[in-house]
Amino acid sequence: MGLLSFLLFPQFLSLLWRLVIVNADFPTTLEGPFKPVTVPFDNKTYHGNAIDLPDTDPQVRRTVQGLEPEQVSVSLSSDYDSVWISWTTGDSQIGDDIKPLDPESVYSFVQYGMAGSPMSYEEVGYSLVYNQLYPFEGLENYTSGIIHHVRLTGLEPSTLYQYRCGDPYISAMSDVLYFRTMPPSSPTNYPHRIAVVGDLGLTRNTSTTLSHLLSNHPDLLVLVGGLSYADMYLTNGTGHNCYSCSLDRTPIRETYQPRWDYWGRFMQPLVANVPTMVVGGKHEIEPQAGDQIFVSYSSRFAFPSEESGSSSSAYYSFNAGGIHFVILNPYIYYDKSSDQYEWLERDLYNVDRKVTPWLVAAWYPPWYSTFKAQYREAECMRVAMEDLLYEYRVDIVFNGHVHAYERSNRVYNYSLDPCGPVYITVGDGGSREDIAVAHADDPDECPEPSTTPDVDIGGFCGFNFTSGPAAGSFCWDRQPEYSAYRESSFGHGILEVKNETHALWSWHRNRDFYEIAGDILYIVREPGRCLVSQRQRD
Ligand SMILES: *[C@@H]1O[C@H](CO)[C@@H](O)[C@H](O)[C@H]1NC(C)=O
Ligand SMILES: *[C@@H]1O[C@H](CO)[C@@H](O)[C@H](O)[C@H]1NC(C)=O
Ligand SMILES: *[C@@H]1O[C@H](CO)[C@@H](O)[C@H](O)[C@H]1NC(C)=O
Ligand SMILES: *[C@@H]1O[C@H](CO)[C@@H](O)[C@H](O)[C@H]1NC(C)=O
Ligand SMILES: *[C@@H]1O[C@H](CO)[C@@H](O)[C@H](O)[C@H]1NC(C)=O
Ligand SMILES: *[C@@H]1O[C@H](CO)[C@@H](O)[C@H](O)[C@H]1NC(C)=O
Ligand SMILES: *[C@@H]1O[C@H](CO)[C@@H](O)[C@H](O)[C@H]1NC(C)=O
Repeated sequence: MGLLSFLLFPQFLSLLWRLVIVNADFPTTLEGPFKPVTVPFDNKTYHGNAIDLPDTDPQVRRTVQGLEPEQVSVSLSSDYDSVWISWTTGDSQIGDDIKPLDPESVYSFVQYGMAGSPMSYEEVGYSLVYNQLYPFEGLENYTSGIIHHVRLTGLEPSTLYQYRCGDPYISAMSDVLYFRTMPPSSPTNYPHRIAVVGDLGLTRNTSTTLSHLLSNHPDLLVLVGGLSYADMYLTNGTGHNCYSCSLDRTPIRETYQPRWDYWGRFMQPLVANVPTMVVGGKHEIEPQAGDQIFVSYSSRFAFPSEESGSSSSAYYSFNAGGIHFVILNPYIYYDKSSDQYEWLERDLYNVDRKVTPWLVAAWYPPWYSTFKAQYREAECMRVAMEDLLYEYRVDIVFNGHVHAYERSNRVYNYSLDPCGPVYITVGDGGSREDIAVAHADDPDECPEPSTTPDVDIGGFCGFNFTSGPAAGSFCWDRQPEYSAYRESSFGHGILEVKNETHALWSWHRNRDFYEIAGDILYIVREPGRCLVSQRQRD
């Protein structure tokens, strides 16, 4: 009967035929491991740093009046039935005479309903302000606007909602905005398109990335750290291009927090309508008085930490249809006795692969990047956590930090392994530091091992390889076999999980038309071959 209907509808047949041909053209990881590919860097097209948007740019200026909401964003709770709406009201202040606003002075209220129906539901949340304080002569302190977070619950799956946020008692409500909930978790339900990118910053190139992201219509956005890049500025608003050679006029790293407000405004067209999950990276540490870190990150975004049994905004998990996401952070304790490790163990144990077959992890510094920048700087995190992720058969790992694109072959402990994750680095969002070009395997580019650990991660675990072609050395002398594809370009990635076994991954360069993929393949799970650890719940 199927055949008959195809014959009766030749146009349908030709469409199907086209789809089959197109799909057949995409490689799958089953054909891997792939021979390593390096796309040569074209230094005539790309030169110089990406240039930051100035504070006069219309995309970063404050356009609302008084206590009207701005910097609106939506993020997921741990399951489809709940999301967070976040926004800011009132002006931030920077200088030596700042007076924190009273967070209780403005209501945190969301009115919502299914698209096309009246907005008959209401929810209230909480509000806060945060301070970024520098107890050093000549540095300026910052206090934020009032940041609001409201959790909506009892939502229907795969449903378009409309909402307004703000304070109805002072007639300060936002325009009508929209978000779509995730599908329910099951092996047959997935969000269509998940965009993944890191190291956005706030440059003209970030602007290109943002417009391409919008054009590719994601259902979910995962930002793998490197958000506003406010830490590339002194408190007096002077920027610099090099993170490691920052002006050392004080013993603390300075930031210019108003850049976070700029970033919140710049991102709103995307993140007020597409649920967005953020990862805390190095640029989010932002140390300040009293040894506090990650204050802006933790205050501005809502995280499903409590919902996922975590006691920190640095690590948490959530479901997006049949995908379980795990977010990690090596800039706080991660070793086997840490809360983070214990939480991870618990979280992975509780994943039911019959409900969420796909397991995806994300954190900021990559383990399997082969670029010289940040080469093997998170080795101690890898040594502490890789076995656990491998045992639980994590399918894909997303990282940022390195300003380029790289996709690994399936790898575990530096060896090709059909059950290891595929590692994808997408620190290519457009930030103002240089794009990464040099590879650790290029002649004379191998860094001195003792210089490689990130001080914010700690320890030294980057021992020389003991086997394989790089035995006795810290770097390979050619593109390592675990690296499948690398290219120095800005862009973003899109993950489209099709079913329990197949996910189409595509990477889109900024210089191409947004739809065009520079790298595309099916990542294929083999649950029958790669059995999940006995430890996992049945
Ligand atoms: C571009 O690369 C070529 C070959 O590596 C080199 O000779 C040239 O100096 C480079 N140009 C610039 C502007 O860096
Ligand atoms: C950044 O954008 C500028 C145009 O605004 C372009 O000339 C440059 O090549 C871009 N840089 C990269 C690395 O894509
Ligand atoms: C900023 O805050 C710190 C910590 O409270 C304080 O020591 C310092 O004097 C403040 N600086 C200015 C310029 O107000
Ligand atoms: C900010 O401080 C730096 C270092 O002291 C100085 O070079 C720069 O001119 C200052 N910028 C402004 C706008 O005051
Ligand atoms: C990983 O590889 C290193 C170096 O070859 C080896 O010493 C170590 O035992 C391996 N770890 C595991 C868990 O297999
Ligand atoms: C590790 O390899 C580097 C070269 O990649 C070499 O200079 C160094 O001596 C080696 N260290 C040890 C302990 O073998
Ligand atoms: C899963 O999706 C892929 C790609 O669309 C397809 O080739 C495959 O047949 C599907 N598998 C199942 C079991 O439906």
